[in-house]
Amino acid sequence: MSFPKTRLRRLRGSRKIRRLVGSVHLTSDDLVYPVFVKEKLKRREPIESIPGQYRYSLNDLPDVIEKCDELRIPGILLFGIPDKKYALGNSAFDRKGVVQDAVMKIKAHSDILVLTDVCMCAYTSHGHCGILEKGRIVNDKTLAVLAKTAVSHAEAGADFVAPSAMMDGQVKIIRAALDKGGFDDVGVMSYSAKFASHFYGPFRDAVDAKPVEGPKDRKSYQMDYHDLRQAMREVSLDIEEGADIVMVKPALPYLDVISEARKRFDAPISAYQVSGEYKMLKSLNDLWVLYESLIAIKRAGADFIISYGALEVTGLLNEHWHSRK
Ligand code: PBG
Repeated sequence: MSFPKTRLRRLRGSRKIRRLVGSVHLTSDDLVYPVFVKEKLKRREPIESIPGQYRYSLNDLPDVIEKCDELRIPGILLFGIPDKKYALGNSAFDRKGVVQDAVMKIKAHSDILVLTDVCMCAYTSHGHCGILEKGRIVNDKTLAVLAKTAVSHAEAGADFVAPSAMMDGQVKIIRAALDKGGFDDVGVMSYSAKFASHFYGPFRDAVDAKPVEGPKDRKSYQMDYHDLRQAMREVSLDIEEGADIVMVKPALPYLDVISEARKRFDAPISAYQVSGEYKMLKSLNDLWVLYESLIAIKRAGADFIISYGALEVTGLLNEHWHSRK
């Protein structure tokens, strides 16, 4: 039936009716906040490449976690910036490493969910996500390092480990190592469809993790963004290997990937709104732009979103709900 019997504007006439008929909603329940912690830092320092974000010292962590708890953010994704980098990335699995210390410190203050990024790129002198040998990033030797790193995070108290190196078999070997270590209750959130994206630029400046030796890019291990079907194979394999949560990354330029994964799989799907996306969206100087982008990501089918804007958007929503009926 068409106009004048049908008038869709009746469904938009007030905020209350819009609230009732809207099918996608966003609250703090949908958000995870990425936190950078830097070894030997005294006081938090602003990240020039990601305006509004900081590298935190171990001592700053209680404050930032308190802020997350106040805003009812359920979890954080933790990244470490080690003092020293080694060819074999040894500081990644050091029991007294920066991430391991940070997890212990956070868990002493709060029961917030701690998810830890498991990768080598911030820990290797060459800046690749795996072991570099004769100009190639070798898969199976890297797996052993990732497994050790994941177990060290679990020992420190991490709730979920999040492998992001895009090595074949990483979920399987990590799941097995966790189980063997008695950490069957520690989950795996896999960066399953992680694309070799140009949107990571600001992050690489923030944690100083650019390839400086060997291949100049990560295209031999991260996904090719011309290939949607292969992304589905990555997700499928990770679920088979035991991933509890699968991730698509980046988020906003990859809504088709999220939506296709949503159609095909029942596992929880997270989406990572990465540094370049956040920076672009923030440049419009209107937090509702960020909110709208998060709604789009949820509408595509993500269950939750890892976003640098998690605190800002939650703050905005709280203010909004207080000021309106
Ligand atoms: C580590 C990692 C990266 C990001 C998250 N984990 C960088 C990369 O793969 O080069 C990017 C996050 C962002 O841009 O916000 N492998």
